[in-house]
Amino acid sequence: MGQRGGLAIYPGSFDPITFGHLDLITRSLRIFDRVIVGVARGHHKETLFTMDERVEMIREACSGMERVEVKGFDGLLVEFAHREGANVMVRGLRAISDFEYEFQMALMNRKIDGEFEAVFLMPSEQWSYLNSTVVKEIARLGGPVDRFAPPAAVRRLAAKMKSP
Ligand code: PNS
Repeated sequence: MGQRGGLAIYPGSFDPITFGHLDLITRSLRIFDRVIVGVARGHHKETLFTMDERVEMIREACSGMERVEVKGFDGLLVEFAHREGANVMVRGLRAISDFEYEFQMALMNRKIDGEFEAVFLMPSEQWSYLNSTVVKEIARLGGPVDRFAPPAAVRRLAAKMKSP
């Protein structure tokens, strides 16, 4: 392996974290020395879990990963990244359908902060169909979610479905 690159932010809603997200974190650690998982409060969409719950779930899921930190943030991603001393974000690209949204976000972030860069990684193909929305849907309908999300998320999904 070549020399790794500094610090990257991996931002998202993580509502909740899935194995696809964990795959991306593992891949990011092959490139960067440290990764901060940035959990957006989520003004852009309604979330099932609070920001604190999402942060806790990811911390539990990443507890063995020494070079990973998990932090919640409010406001602009580029400002959060700046406060943390990072100018690179990592995002996952599962399929062409992800491209347009990611393209717009990357270019908007660059408009706000010309130094900000985006690195796109492809998750393992076994997770290419997976996202938090379908995991929530399966949980809501009583289906098995333990093959899609780590125990921290499965447990909280089950609790949420009992008392929303
Ligand atoms: O997991 P998601 O919902 O696709 O993640 C989107 C996220 C949180 C990365 C994006 O909405 C974001 O960066 N939000 C923070 C506010 C912000 O900076 N918005 C401008 C983005 S162009």
